[in-house]
Amino acid sequence: MAREGKTSKWGWLSKLFAWRSNKNGGRVVAEKYMEQAWNAPHYKKSANGLGKNSVLKVAAICGSLSTTANNLGLINAATEIAKESISGMEIELLDLSGIPLLNPDLITDDVYPDAVVTFRKKLQEADCVLFATPEYVYSVSGVLKNALDWASLSPNVMGGKPAAVMTAAGDLGGARAQYHLRQMGVYLDLQFVNKPEVFVKAYSSPKKFDENGNLIDTDVKASVKELLLGLQSLATKLLSSRACGPRESFSMVV
Ligand SMILES: Cc1cc2nc3c(=O)[nH]c(=O)nc-3n(C[C@H](O)[C@H](O)[C@H](O)COP(=O)(O)O)c2cc1C
Repeated sequence: MAREGKTSKWGWLSKLFAWRSNKNGGRVVAEKYMEQAWNAPHYKKSANGLGKNSVLKVAAICGSLSTTANNLGLINAATEIAKESISGMEIELLDLSGIPLLNPDLITDDVYPDAVVTFRKKLQEADCVLFATPEYVYSVSGVLKNALDWASLSPNVMGGKPAAVMTAAGDLGGARAQYHLRQMGVYLDLQFVNKPEVFVKAYSSPKKFDENGNLIDTDVKASVKELLLGLQSLATKLLSSRACGPRESFSMVV
């Protein structure tokens, strides 16, 4: 267990409610946490924009845990493509395997589980996020949803970040999961690249992946590269204008 130093067991929940209320007290809490998030290393760095020699740090999140997963194959292909043919982009895969199911009982006196602290810190330090997920029961995998829940706890470590998504799944190539993720992105305040939409029909011919989950299809590789270039372009725009960062307004239901 490690200390992140933000909230107590039920503190995050009450702060979330406070944030969402229109009462003055809620605004004070919201502003305090906005300031905390804004001063995180990611935003300090992005305040200067991406200079000529700056490297865009991409945190990759895979909704599959298997070492031979197709979606891991997509992330590995993206990492290779970035290394070989996109200058100024570095992709690091975050480890979700040790992240426990979210349970407030695991948060005692400001302390989150170690794996969660590491995951949140890496997200905070990244400039943007790349997702690959299978579709499970018409949505994203539980592994991914759980990781997003932890990331959302105040301060939301994904707030304002540019993001891109790829899905490898059955007949629709994971379209339903992908749109669910984009919907969750509203709560998380992620700024998704709209196009290209990378839906990979994992089981249709021609074969897209080998038996170890490596991506072997050149058309899909080209789409992955287009997506990365789209992410780089969006991130450069947002980070250099400092338009990205936690924003004050939450949803208003009146
Ligand atoms: C529990 C479960 C539910 C699934 N539900 C769907 C689904 O709703 N839609 C779909 O297209 N594929 C579904 N699939 C298939 C997976 O999305 C597909 O096998 C995917 O390629 C697995 O990706 P991975 O190799 O990265 O784990 C499901 C698979 C499992 C195990």
